[in-house]
Amino acid sequence: MKPILNPLICALDTTDIDDANQLIEQLRGHIGAIKLGLEFFTANGAAGVRQLEHHKIPVFLDLKFHDIPNTVARAIKATAGINSFMMTVHTSGGRAMLQAAIDASMEVSIITGKARPMIVGITVLTSLDQADLAMTGVKDNLNDQVLRLADLAQSCRLDGVVCSPYEIAALRKHCGADFTLVVPGIRPEGSSKDDQKRTMTPAEAMQKGATHLVIGRPITEAKDPKATAAEILKSLV
Ligand code: C5P
Repeated sequence: MKPILNPLICALDTTDIDDANQLIEQLRGHIGAIKLGLEFFTANGAAGVRQLEHHKIPVFLDLKFHDIPNTVARAIKATAGINSFMMTVHTSGGRAMLQAAIDASMEVSIITGKARPMIVGITVLTSLDQADLAMTGVKDNLNDQVLRLADLAQSCRLDGVVCSPYEIAALRKHCGADFTLVVPGIRPEGSSKDDQKRTMTPAEAMQKGATHLVIGRPITEAKDPKATAAEILKSLV
């Protein structure tokens, strides 16, 4: 898959195909990709994703795979019919699972005849805090755990990780210039934070070293999603 040139990925957090189609139509030319997550995929499956294909907009399939290596590999291989340019796996699935994911992405490339989909890792979910980590037996500092899992991802040849805006600087320094950093929790100046606690503006996140910005409600719930996306894009120049 060719890398996208526009770093804005709009999270279409909906189960409704008509809503998704309408939004993509409005945002055409102003976003680089859409993100489809568990809710869309559970409701509509691969057939639902294919119903958006005619827009020819790159799809980031955020299903956060986490299972035994064989199952994750097969799931990734099964995405060959969807044409996703990027997907997610939990780095806590371990080395064998991460390597199987990358191998499977190469098999996807053989099947589709296109560049392989990027595989990016989830480190520590931002919904977890230090106490939650301790309850799972991880006694280390949360930030150290994020770096450790990013290291693991990089050593398994993953393309990058998903991270919070406040992890960008440390990860960019730790993992080098070529590592993909996909960043949600982005809020344009003055927009509602919704349930996001630690946000950053699109321009700040890019300056810190993000490669992709995942933005949902500030665009999807705006009075004019197209104008909002265009404005965000302008703020990056
Ligand atoms: O509407 P909003 O911009 O908050 O949407 C952000 C998107 O990024 C949602 O799809 C959300 O699930 C996802 N996400 C996040 N924080 C993370 C990981 C993913 O907000 N740490």
